[in-house]
Order: sequence, then structure tokens, then C-alpha cells
Amino acid sequence: MDRAERNAIATAVALLLFFFVLIVYAAKGLRIDLPTCITDVEPFKEGRLIQHAKDRYELHVVAKMWLFDFNQGQTEIEIPAGSTVDIYLTSADVVHGMHINGTTVNLMAIPGTVNYARYKFTKPGVYHVVCHEFCGVGHQAMQAKIVVK
Ligand code: CUA
Repeated sequence: MDRAERNAIATAVALLLFFFVLIVYAAKGLRIDLPTCITDVEPFKEGRLIQHAKDRYELHVVAKMWLFDFNQGQTEIEIPAGSTVDIYLTSADVVHGMHINGTTVNLMAIPGTVNYARYKFTKPGVYHVVCHEFCGVGHQAMQAKIVVK
């Protein structure tokens, strides 16, 4: 091995170490991690709206061809303004997308996994929910509603 080769290997090893330190720093120091929308919650089969407190709800959504099951088959729920909702989303069949219009909530519904978002519904109104991932002939009609009173 000549000197140039040794230098090249030393530089490569130094760079690897440098990047490894940067990754550890990003994870620990800057707290940059995997997207938090991914959970280890077990997939569920039925939609459910659970009230934990006056303004705290947990919403389990099952997306399936071609509806969003929000609460035991219902595609419409009603909550009081100011409610914070923990949204868990899964799919019973193919990949769907769920966007709640007028909010920052935009999740993928993936069979076998549960994705998560939290949102505080401060403004009263009707929030339309649409599927934004082509999922078959009923895709266009795959909608739901969150009514905030
Ligand atoms: Cu579900 Cu498109």
C-alpha cells in the first residue's frame, strides 16, 4: 500500500466517523428523529370516538373502500369547539390518504400500521375529510365530516 492509498483510506474512515457523530448529534442533540406520525399502536378494526375529558378526545379512524369509519360505522362526528383530538388512523384494505380540510392534518392510512396526529379544533364549522390517495372506483366519493360546534 502506498502513501496515497493509506491517505484515501484514512480520509474515508475519518468521514464515516464524522457523519456518524453528526447522525448521533442530530438524533440526541437536535432531537431529529423518525416522523412522529408513525406509532406502534396495534391496528384496530372499528372506528371509535372516545371522550377523555370535556375538551379531550381520541379518534380511531378506519379507512376502507370507500369510507372513513369514525365511530362504529359513522362517517360524521360532532365535537365541541376547543377540543383537542388525538387521531389514530389505519386502513382495512388498501392504502388511503386522509386530509382534514382547513387543518394541518394529512395522514396516510396504511394496512397493518397506525398513523397519528393531534389537532386542536378551535374554530367551529364543518371540516370535510377527503381521501387523497387513489384507492379504486369509489375514491372520489370517499369523504367524511367533522362537525365542530
Ligand atoms: Cu380512499 Cu381514495
